[in-house]
Formats: sequence, C-alpha cells, structure tokens
Amino acid sequence: MAIMVLGADGYIGWPLSVRLARELDEEVIGVDNLITRRLVAEVGGASAVPILDPEDRVNAYRKAYGKNNLKIITGDLTDGDFVDALIAKYKPHTVYHLAQQRSAPYSMIDRDHAAYTQVNNLLTNLNLIFAVMKHDPNAHIVKMGTMGEYGTPSYTISEGWMNIKYEGKKYRIMVPRDPGSWYHLSKVFDTYNMIFANKIWGIRATDVQQGVVYGSRTEDTLADGLRTRLDFDGVWGTVMNKYFAQIIAFNKVLIYGKGLMRRGFLSLQDSIDCLFLLGQKPADEGEYRVVNQIEDIHSTMDLAKRAVKIARKYGYDPEFERIEDPRVEKQAHRYRVVHSTLRKLGFRPRKRMDDVLEEIMQDMLEHQDIIKAHADSIWPKVSWKKPLENAPHEFESIKSPAAFLKGKGYS
Ligand SMILES: NC(=O)c1ccc[n+]([C@@H]2O[C@H](COP(=O)([O-])OP(=O)(O)OC[C@H]3O[C@@H](n4cnc5c(N)ncnc54)[C@H](O)[C@@H]3O)[C@@H](O)[C@H]2O)c1
Repeated sequence: MAIMVLGADGYIGWPLSVRLARELDEEVIGVDNLITRRLVAEVGGASAVPILDPEDRVNAYRKAYGKNNLKIITGDLTDGDFVDALIAKYKPHTVYHLAQQRSAPYSMIDRDHAAYTQVNNLLTNLNLIFAVMKHDPNAHIVKMGTMGEYGTPSYTISEGWMNIKYEGKKYRIMVPRDPGSWYHLSKVFDTYNMIFANKIWGIRATDVQQGVVYGSRTEDTLADGLRTRLDFDGVWGTVMNKYFAQIIAFNKVLIYGKGLMRRGFLSLQDSIDCLFLLGQKPADEGEYRVVNQIEDIHSTMDLAKRAVKIARKYGYDPEFERIEDPRVEKQAHRYRVVHSTLRKLGFRPRKRMDDVLEEIMQDMLEHQDIIKAHADSIWPKVSWKKPLENAPHEFESIKSPAAFLKGKGYS
C-alpha cells in the first residue's frame, strides 16, 4: 500500500510527507523536480529556514522516527511517460497533488513566466489524471487548489457549487471563478480538468481550496534536518513572511494601497491536518468533492498591525510605508466563505494565529543573516500593470510554449 505526494520537497508537501510517513505504516513516495528551490534563487530569494537536500531530509526522517517508509524520487511531472511509469509502478491508493508553480507574482513577471506557470501546472495535473485513469482508476486524488480561484466576489463563497434561482427556476451551478493572476487561472483550468475527468471517467478526487497558508513549524518537522522552507522575498513570500522580513531588514512594513484587501488564512499545521484527514476520509468512488479551508479572515492592514505588535516584543519599532498596490485587485470588499465540510469530517483547528506568527518571527530572527543577505529581493518588483522587461529565466524545461511543443516533436 503506497501513498504518493507530488511536490514533496515544497513548503506544504514536505511536512505532509513526514506526517503521513510518521503516522501511518505505509510507504510514502514523494516526487519533486526541486524547481521551487531554483526559481526562488532566480529572483534573488532564499529559504529563511535552511533546508537539506531531499536525500538528507529523508535520512533525517529515518533518524528522528526510526522508520524506513519515506522516499523522494526526483523527476519532472510535466513528463507524461515519467508520471505514467510512477503510477504504474507504485499504484498508490492516494495521490496528493501539490506539484505546481504556486507564486502569483512569479506568473506575472512576463510572457515566458506566465507560460511556464500555466504549462507546468496544467501538464502535471493532466499527466496525473491520465496515469491514474490508466493504471489506478480507483485511486483518490487530493488536489491542492486555492481560495484564489474564486476571487473576492460580493456574495458568500460556497464550497464548489452554489444554488441559484434564474428565470424563476432553481439550479445548482459551479461557483463562478474569478482568479486574480495567470497562476490562479492555471488553478482554475486544473479544477475544470479534474471535474471533466470525474464526469467522463469517474475519477475520484477531492479539490482542496485553501486560503493563504502561514507558519514555519509543524509538530512532525521540529527535529534536526526536518524543517520546511520559508520564503520571504517579494515574489515567493506570502504576506506575513514578507512583513516580518521587511521589519528585520528595514524596520518597516510595506502596505499595498489602503491595506483593506481581505483574504482567508490558515496555519501550516492546520493545512497538514486537513490534508491528512482528507486522505483518511476519502471521497467516495466516482465522487468529485470540494473542500474550502480558511480559519481566519483578515485585511492586509490588520495583519500588518499584528506583525508590528509581535515585532515590538523583540525590540523593533517599525513604521508603515504605503506604496501603490502592484496588483490589480479590489481595494475594499466583502469576503465571506463557507468552510463547513471539514468540520463535518471532524477537523478542528489547533493553533492560534498570533502564536504561529510569533513562531515565524522567532525563526526569522534566528536566521536573520539570511534575510539581510537577500534584503534586495524583499521589495516588490513585479507589477500586474506591466510585464517586466528582460526578466531572468532560471527554468530550462519549458522556456515557452513553442519550445515545449518543439521538444515534443509538434513543430
Ligand atoms: N502556500 C500557500 O499559501 C498555498 C495556499 C493555497 C494553495 N497552495 C497550493 O499548495 C500547493 C503547494 O504549495 P507550496 O506552497 O507548498 O509550494 P512549493 O513551491 O513550496 O511546493 C511545490 C513543489 O512542487 C514542485 N514542483 C513544481 N512543479 C513540478 C514539476 N513539474 N514536477 C515535479 N515537481 C514540481 C516544486 O519543486 C515544489 O517543491 C500548490 O498547488 C499551491 O498552489 C499553497
């Protein structure tokens, strides 16, 4: 019996892999092409918490827990034959799919970065669907989506579907998607592809729409060599990580626009607990299930105030600096989300936001030399309004759709 985690070297994928391997007596097969490590370096960033190479991570897991049931295979999941062979060999009963380019700003850099994001994300998903259909049709795919697929509509966001009345009749339709970046669009395409695979082949899947995940620790990854990555640069860092890095590097907090944009958040521990639970309580055969997960809703200004309050405990007294919002997004809006399915399955959040935020601050302070050495990368340089000229390209596998198709013999 095997479980597979695609994207096992990532921020969420690594602690998820460790949790699964530690708690279950099954083989956990992680797969990753290590591209996030390179793409973060491309924009001048680095993980604030140092991380080991995959082989050393797995050895650290063995040493910490005395178990030999975790491995990481290095490979590119846009390669359909590779994915086909993987699924044929291991026939996992559950596949967690987290192997994606997951930075919205990265996808907005220029044409090639948008194309890379969409080709990478759509292909990893499609390859998985086809391989599961061929070799392992009963497997449960747990696909990581994002709350960003829905955007910030004025109505309450329900879980996947909504009931509406139109021309006097009642209908159940998919919640409209209104994504805010080329990256978020790729996630919407993935969702539709998964729904289509469920419709025509009965693929069994759970689509997990998580909000912004924050946090630097999980209970399974505290031992030496087991820590997960923590990005803080202007492209890969999520909002709280950027605030703490700005405080440590510049003693200021950058507020985009009025800071009234609201989003849903959850801790890394809650993200892992949720994914673990969904694997233990799978979708039914032939079911496509959607789960929304957020635990708190905050405006970016509210979060900035929380960051400052915590930073003051550590001797900082940062100022707010308002800058023009580099994103195209609603500046003030309603944000309500239904997220009851997880509760019905027994999920309960375990961490208080302020405690987790303080852990981030502590971990960043411990490695403040890394943050200061990469301080230039913290400033937001990518704008939604205009693609960058002459942006660097670190990725080699897919430089542009044309190069990709040529490589496959299509032109
Ligand atoms: N971090 C968040 O706040 C957040 C919130 C909601 C949803 N998500 C989703 O969760 C998933 C994981 O996000 P994360 O934050 O852990 O990102 P991450 O970049 O840290 O992890 C993704 C992993 O996938 C790997 N990968 C990417 N393309 C690959 C390919 N072609 N072949 C093999 N491996 C590949 C990367 O090397 C990386 O290790 C993504 O699908 C993301 O959209 C993340």
